[in-house]
Amino acid sequence: MYEFTPHAGQSSAEFHEELVASALALIAGERDPVANMANLAALLWQAMPDLNWAGFYRVIGGELVLGPFIGKPACVRIVHGRGVCGTAWARAESQLVADVHRFPGHIACDPASRSELVVPVHRDGAVIAVIDLDSPLPSRFDAADQAGLEAFAGAIARHI
Ligand code: SME
Repeated sequence: MYEFTPHAGQSSAEFHEELVASALALIAGERDPVANMANLAALLWQAMPDLNWAGFYRVIGGELVLGPFIGKPACVRIVHGRGVCGTAWARAESQLVADVHRFPGHIACDPASRSELVVPVHRDGAVIAVIDLDSPLPSRFDAADQAGLEAFAGAIARHI
């Protein structure tokens, strides 16, 4: 069993550095991408408070297809440019959404979701997946979370 235990008084930057190190330790030596994405989703869920969904969508055959996650059952396929995830993929850049109700085209998999952070995973110059984090709290994610998750995505890109 693996436990992620953030230290009290830790800065957000330190928390995210530790999260990346934990992610790499968790998937070291394992080549199966599904196993790695499943454990990484569980790590994000365990480490980051106030989430109601944490997981992956993978770029397969010109659309995003649901990957390993924790949360309520979600929509399986997302078209390029649609919703927060499809926008992150199309623009190849993170989407930090303080209020999903104000994001045109947001896809509500869980009506409880209020804010969202979607970070693309780049490999060899292309987006191969996105990491999607949802929260029932408005403005749950900040720029430090975005920077931390971008580092996380870079670190795991060759392991999923
Ligand atoms: N809200 C996302 C869809 C995925 S679910 O949140 C898990 C979106 O708008 O792309």
